Amino acid sequence: MGKLLLAPMEGLVDDVLRDVLTRVGGYDLAVSEFVRVSGNLLPPRAFRRLCPELDRGSRTRAGTPVVVQLLGSDPACLADNAAQLVELAPAGIDLNFGCPAPTVNRHGGGAMLLADPEQLFRIVAAVRRAVPAAVPLTAKMRLGVRDTAKALDCARALAAGGIVALVVHARTRADAYRPPAHWEWVDRIRDVVPQPVVANGEVWTVADHRRCCAVSGSDDVMIGRGAVADPFLARRIRAQLAGEAVDVDRSADWRQLQPLLASYWQQVCAKVTPRHAPGRLKLWLGSLRRNFVEAEALFMAVRSLRGVAEISAALERHGVPLRPAAPLRPAAL
Ligand SMILES: Cc1cc2nc3c(=O)[nH]c(=O)nc-3n(C[C@H](O)[C@H](O)[C@H](O)COP(=O)(O)O)c2cc1C
Repeated sequence: MGKLLLAPMEGLVDDVLRDVLTRVGGYDLAVSEFVRVSGNLLPPRAFRRLCPELDRGSRTRAGTPVVVQLLGSDPACLADNAAQLVELAPAGIDLNFGCPAPTVNRHGGGAMLLADPEQLFRIVAAVRRAVPAAVPLTAKMRLGVRDTAKALDCARALAAGGIVALVVHARTRADAYRPPAHWEWVDRIRDVVPQPVVANGEVWTVADHRRCCAVSGSDDVMIGRGAVADPFLARRIRAQLAGEAVDVDRSADWRQLQPLLASYWQQVCAKVTPRHAPGRLKLWLGSLRRNFVEAEALFMAVRSLRGVAEISAALERHGVPLRPAAPLRPAAL
């Protein structure tokens, strides 16, 4: 059966949302938000901060392995930091060659590296040399900076550098996040790369997944925003792959989601300052609105609220069961 990967999403999916989404299930693997590497050897706490799962055998509480993603442009510096990261026993290391953020790109990192396949090779080869063979090294690329002219050369360079698998977000940097994702390019890349290639981009439904696999020729798919907007998507895709009937019952899903929202909110409140917690909840509800009318109502109810206590009260009014679960005990999950 094809693999389903939960995409890295800096600012949207952190260890708390990874915990909740992988508890719902369906994912074989998750990738952490990028750890930015620029000049210094990062202390272990820098990796642990973005990927607290490192302290739990690099797995979410549901047991899903979490790979740590690094972002940078200097081969030696990335290699040194990868070696440092290995000490924390990550499930794998992924290299980011797709980030379109201007702050990252100004320093030549992320998607800008797709202009220079030789540099991609130097980076991957240096990291590969610094990391024991038993640690899986993967890369995630877009199709190019402005166009797809170098897409195949980039993929070849990453493959030659020594990755074990390649994730292709099937858009250029210039495409940003605009649909469509060009899944047919994943198929072209599969032709020139001996390693498994994972398709990524614009999978929001079971039907999207089916079409993505058909067009890309890949069985393995990474899901980003669709996973956040529909926590049951991966489970439904699995059911479909297993030949089971796939019904979408949003009301039933919402009832299952309510305790998970409670868990999310309580973990967020425990992790971030009271000033930042409301924004985190609103961000997730903002995604859930796409699929759940109840999330829309809840989003509207909390939108203008800033205090943790008043948001907790609004959640409870909307059937999110905060009290029985607090304080959250891992054994009760
Ligand atoms: C808010 C946000 C943050 C992201 N952060 C990262 C990141 O840290 N590393 C990375 O490789 N890709 C990042 N991405 C890209 C996603 O991993 C994924 O490639 C992209 O969203 C396309 O997949 P989708 O259409 O399923 O969302 C981010 C995307 C979004 C929307």
